[in-house]
Amino acid sequence: MKKDFLRILDLTGRELLALLAAGREWKRRGGRRGAPRPLAGKTLAMIFQKASTRTRVSFEVGMARLGGHALFLSPADTQISRGEPVRDTARVLSRYVDAIMIRTFLQETVEEMAAQAAVPVINGLTDLHHPCQVLADLMTAQERGFDLRGMKAAFIGDGNNVANSWVEAAHLLGFSLRLACPKGFEPDAGVLREASAAGRGDVRVVRDPAEAARDAHVLYTDVWTSMGQEKERIRRLKAFRGYRIDSGLLRAARKDAIVMHCLPAHRGEEITDEVMEGPQSAVFDEAENRMHIQMALLAKLIPH
Ligand code: CP
Ligand code: NVA
Repeated sequence: MKKDFLRILDLTGRELLALLAAGREWKRRGGRRGAPRPLAGKTLAMIFQKASTRTRVSFEVGMARLGGHALFLSPADTQISRGEPVRDTARVLSRYVDAIMIRTFLQETVEEMAAQAAVPVINGLTDLHHPCQVLADLMTAQERGFDLRGMKAAFIGDGNNVANSWVEAAHLLGFSLRLACPKGFEPDAGVLREASAAGRGDVRVVRDPAEAARDAHVLYTDVWTSMGQEKERIRRLKAFRGYRIDSGLLRAARKDAIVMHCLPAHRGEEITDEVMEGPQSAVFDEAENRMHIQMALLAKLIPH
């Protein structure tokens, strides 16, 4: 595996499937008495330049279950907010810790961090990608019995960081992905190009949510206004009208389809309360799986 995990395409298809198998294994035995603790004495630095509930807690608890520990670094309390260059932070942290997880705005920032750090760097979300989320999503689809190479997934709404990581996963594994996005809110053109050159998925952007949802095994959505886009909220609310996952749209999918959302959700906007609380919702398993799959990732990336 590469030293760093900055996007789904940093993995080969084979590595991705092996990671998912390891995630399932950690879910089975992690945290139990006598479970292996391969990262005893190891430390993960976690830099958050945006808010987080799941990513912070799942990484922190995951490290503890692996026998190591994690440091939460808020930019407000470190020299990062006072302009210390990323390359200096990367080199200094590499002298203390065994891996760095960073949530920030620009993908270039995590790339620079990775290039300058001697230790593995993990992307905990940028404006462009959210690869750890999509690992957990794939694990959830797999544990619900779907064949990751043959499934049909539909992403409804904003072609954002999570959507971009889904595009990469579809090409890497070869499944069908339909993204229903309003004009101007498609996934990143560079990601679409690079992913299709790297893989063999059947990925298409469409306008009509019902067309995307037809016969899908997985219906996915995310917020219409991501972190950092708060000023665009009103414009976005208007643009995404009709792109909500509700029970009508769910009926277009397969009978055994599951609904996923990376959370946090805005009920009544991109998803109805009824669907989120309904029997086809897998959102809380998905959130739980963040921890198990990240344990697999940490155990793989951190030498021990
Ligand atoms: N899904 C996700 O990354 O959640 P947080 O923003 O709470 O970390
Ligand atoms: N697209 C969302 C995901 C949050 C986990 C955001 O970037 O805010």
